Amino acid sequence: METRLIDNFGRQITYLRLAVTDRCNLRCQYCMPAHGIDIVDRKELLTYKEMYRITRILSELGVNKVRLTGGEPFVRKDFVSFLESLSFNDKLEEINITTNGALISSHIEKLESLNIKNINLSIDSLNEENFNTITRRKVFKEVYNTLEKLEKSSLNLKLNVVVQSGINTHEINDFIELTKSKKLSVRFIEEMPFNGIGLRKTKENWNLNRILDKIKSQYKDIIVLENVISSTSKNFKIDGYLGSFGIIPAFTRTICNDCNRIRITATGLFKNCLFDDGVFNIRDFIRDGASDDQIKQLFIDTIKKKPKNGFIAEANRKEVTESMSTIGG
Ligand code: GTP
Ligand code: 5AD
Ligand code: SF4
Repeated sequence: METRLIDNFGRQITYLRLAVTDRCNLRCQYCMPAHGIDIVDRKELLTYKEMYRITRILSELGVNKVRLTGGEPFVRKDFVSFLESLSFNDKLEEINITTNGALISSHIEKLESLNIKNINLSIDSLNEENFNTITRRKVFKEVYNTLEKLEKSSLNLKLNVVVQSGINTHEINDFIELTKSKKLSVRFIEEMPFNGIGLRKTKENWNLNRILDKIKSQYKDIIVLENVISSTSKNFKIDGYLGSFGIIPAFTRTICNDCNRIRITATGLFKNCLFDDGVFNIRDFIRDGASDDQIKQLFIDTIKKKPKNGFIAEANRKEVTESMSTIGG
């Protein structure tokens, strides 16, 4: 049996994005409507035991990096214990988490002790009122406090800023200023239509070039950092600043050529691409008694069907409107 996951374009899959829940304690405007989304029944969620097994099988097929997402991963009960069990899998070189940070300040030391490598913290505004409007919850102080604690910890910190036309675009350079004395990377993300409704209509189109132009209008000493293969972001820094910044062309999708990732949602839906609508449900196979070898073969065969890029994936489905909270980003 083949022991690696290689698609028909020669791309090897080494990175799993695993969503542990579809629930979230915030209601970010670019992610879901104010009333939230229809969350699934608990028994439809993969159990931690099932997630552990899936991750182990994938790690035997060459996956060496796992990112836990949600919804908000820390909303799920016993998430930290799950991290602990994953940390025993020595085939995993990196266990990373994407979080909104509102529930994690008391867990930071534990995360350090488990050798969690990267934390990507969503924070879309540095202004309390604006932050609370975007997230529709009053948690700015808690999230900012988490940011400061994480920056001082041994964890590698990236901030995720979804660039929303007219809402936080005037704050782009405030985020750049944050990198002057903080050891972190701010990543500006092009907004995508994953919000439960579909693409929001805006007067201006804030794509990678426009975001970079905005930064160039204020900063002259921008250093282009070396490309990291399969990275979602193009990375830069301001000469002399401690931190760095990046731009993620999530919607213009110029990063697909060396894509190395797959996704599994909280209900077990397997996705070859962020923009596809799911290929099969791994939970059903597991609950029907599939063996490890059968599951391996299923992954190997499915990865062969990975679309060339996010545009092709999108063209093969109905309109993209689901919430990022059900996918995991
Ligand atoms: P790193 O491991 O730190 O590089 O993280 P990441 O950028 O892969 O993950 P994160 O969860 O922080 O996601 C940041 C943004 O990138 C989110 O808006 C994701 O939806 C988006 N993103 C992640 N992977 C992909 C991808 O394969 N395609 C596209 N178009 N966007 C992606
Ligand atoms: N467009 C771009 N990024 C999004 N995220 C959530 N919804 C969207 C969207 N519509 C980001 C969050 C989080 C990551 C998992 O995905 O900010 O950091
Ligand atoms: Fe916001 Fe993330 Fe929650 Fe979506 S899943 S509402 S992006 S915090």
